[in-house]
Amino acid sequence: MTAIEDLKDRIPTTPAFLVDENAILSALDSLAALREKCGCKVLYSIKSLPLTEVMRLAKPYVDGFSVSSLFEARLANEVLTGQGGIHLCTPGIRPDDMTELATLCTHISCNSIRQIRHFESIGDKTASIGLRVNPRLSFTEDARYDPCRQFSKLGVDMDSFLDAGLLNCAKGLHFHTIFGAVNYTPLMQTLHKIEAFLSPHLSKLDWLNFGGGYLYDQIENNDDFCEQVIRLRVDYDLDVFIEPGNALVGKAGYLVATVIDCFQSDGKTIAVLDTSINHLPEVFEYQRQPPLLEQHPNGGYSALLAGSTCLSGDLFGEYRFNRPLEIGDRLTFNQAGAYSLVKANRFNGYNLPDIYAVRNEQIRLLKHHTYQEYRQLWVNDFE
Ligand SMILES: Cc1ncc(COP(=O)(O)O)c(C=O)c1O
Repeated sequence: MTAIEDLKDRIPTTPAFLVDENAILSALDSLAALREKCGCKVLYSIKSLPLTEVMRLAKPYVDGFSVSSLFEARLANEVLTGQGGIHLCTPGIRPDDMTELATLCTHISCNSIRQIRHFESIGDKTASIGLRVNPRLSFTEDARYDPCRQFSKLGVDMDSFLDAGLLNCAKGLHFHTIFGAVNYTPLMQTLHKIEAFLSPHLSKLDWLNFGGGYLYDQIENNDDFCEQVIRLRVDYDLDVFIEPGNALVGKAGYLVATVIDCFQSDGKTIAVLDTSINHLPEVFEYQRQPPLLEQHPNGGYSALLAGSTCLSGDLFGEYRFNRPLEIGDRLTFNQAGAYSLVKANRFNGYNLPDIYAVRNEQIRLLKHHTYQEYRQLWVNDFE
């Protein structure tokens, strides 16, 4: 039994989202070792889980945070208090936000030639302005995860970047081409292509940002990665950034739920939980079954785990267990740290999970959502 399975019955109410701080610290340690070995700079991509508790935990180990919006930039600024960089990269910069972003952020990777021209025209800015390039290298067949898909909205083609004569205003380049990679082959191919196009220009830049998408803590051999980072730093005098999200928090998050009803439907056992796919929205978005700590693939009993909303497709999937599920049983979805809580919603008026930090087997309540917050969302602010 895992430590989290041991702890789950000590949680007063469910659904509950647990943040395993020991797991985050261990991911931070492995990123710190990588940083030490090759001199890359590490940013935590807060879009994956922008809990300030997690940001404060990461702060001493990282060179800053990577953000996607004005609100994320403001939150990053509150936590960092000047002790780290704030790097923005998004296709969605609002014209009204640009001036504030240009001073809140230390680095901005523009997503289009229009964006970079806008930032160029802002006089009083502190941010180093660069450009996201799209290397047009696809590493997945599923276009939903592929930043380099056909008609991609993410980044500027390298030849357009050269044609537009942007080398004098771009101080850095950003690329992000993959999701959940467990080896560095895609990165090596991407760097190769970028260098083939841009090597005469790289020494005019200050920085290169490799984006996120790699599960750094799960990749045992990082020699190639380090060799490339060191070469880019030495040959072109570039600062090299990585901005992982999932690698830092993915394995550290758990959603604990309770079985609140059980019945048969067309010969299958349906177990209704006091959570829903709206607390793990990627289950529905990508139609994938989330891992569950209590499942036994060869167990003699199966149940279709269902969420508690009206949507018939609010289903986690069919799982096998060593005994029949009973009302009151607690179940734990693991690997839920990245892109779950941040996308969670209150569809049907069901409350968001309470949030707990877990460290050295101690549980600490961080957040309890209330009816007042729910009500506040839906009542008029102005008559
Ligand atoms: C530009 C950019 N940087 C970083 C990340 C973080 O990626 P991951 O959580 O896979 O490490 C993403 C994720 O979508 C991204 O789009």
